[in-house]
Amino acid sequence: MTQTHPQIPLSEVGLRPVVLREDGRALRLLDQRALPSQELWLEFTEVEPIARAIETLVVRGAPAIGCTAALGLAVCSLGFPEEPGAFRQACAVALERFANTRPTAVNLFVAISQMREVLAQAPTSTPVPRLREQLKTTAVRHVEDDLAACLAMGANGASLMPEGGTILTHCNTGALATAGWGTALGVIRTAHRWGRGIDVLVDETRPVLQGARLTAWELQQANIPARVITDSMAGALMAQGKVAAAIVGADRIAKNGDVANKIGTYTVAVLCAHHNIPFYVAAPWTTIDLSLESGREIPIEERDHNEVHMHGGTRLTPEGMAACNPAFDVTPANLIRAIITERGVHVPGELV
Ligand code: MRU
Repeated sequence: MTQTHPQIPLSEVGLRPVVLREDGRALRLLDQRALPSQELWLEFTEVEPIARAIETLVVRGAPAIGCTAALGLAVCSLGFPEEPGAFRQACAVALERFANTRPTAVNLFVAISQMREVLAQAPTSTPVPRLREQLKTTAVRHVEDDLAACLAMGANGASLMPEGGTILTHCNTGALATAGWGTALGVIRTAHRWGRGIDVLVDETRPVLQGARLTAWELQQANIPARVITDSMAGALMAQGKVAAAIVGADRIAKNGDVANKIGTYTVAVLCAHHNIPFYVAAPWTTIDLSLESGREIPIEERDHNEVHMHGGTRLTPEGMAACNPAFDVTPANLIRAIITERGVHVPGELV
């Protein structure tokens, strides 16, 4: 007997962390640095503060960064010169600044090229108000497409979540990391809504603690049973048979199915392989970068070493100590059971 499952209606999507202010004249971001202790919304109208918001993780998560750049340009363009040449030049400078914020997540570059395309396609005679309208339409479409992709991913992946099982996840891949609902966490949320009786183990995800702070907060809000663990606990829990599956998001997926995601993802994938636990990746199709043959070509962001040295304003390491802080790692395709996108469930090596 085939079981049918309800679609998640838009009215039930809940949190959307990257939005336009009602009058369309400012970008609103939920400040993810302040969570979970404070729900603080910030408003932006200018290029440099938006670029800094991406760099300092006010907004983070591959799709959410793309949405920020797209809506950000639409909003900033309201303050750009009325003369068409100068307007186009200001757009180009803004997009270049956004492109230099974070190198790993490809969704940012997808959003930027969609915005560049609007300007490239519009005849030089196009009046500035018309260009602004077209930029806004494209940006809003980018965001709505991401939300629709998240909901479809959830529906495509939910039945892969073992019934009654404990699902391990890493980093934050929820509404906060996207236009809404989430990728890997969206699959978990959909599985929960479908009554699969799952519970979640959340890797804290050092150094920035996206798991402990953000995923834990989202799961709590959604009333999904969950426990936070330190990153070092995953292996022991797997060895004890306490993990049924793992699911993570992605910042960039190469043509051969190698996946760049938050640092620590590779460790989880190796542990899953050792314990014969299915390891899934959920990401929108825009995360797949067919121009890269393998994960070796994915640029990996090195972030400020103080993220490792410091915690909550306290120094953890001796003064003068060196550190490493690669923000992402690459999981080879052979460790991934399936990649879930809005288009379906894919074998990692067969994306084209
Ligand atoms: O450094 P971050 O917090 O932007 O890294 C985010 C991740 O690695 C996520 O897992 C990834 O972007 C997928 S989010 C849907």
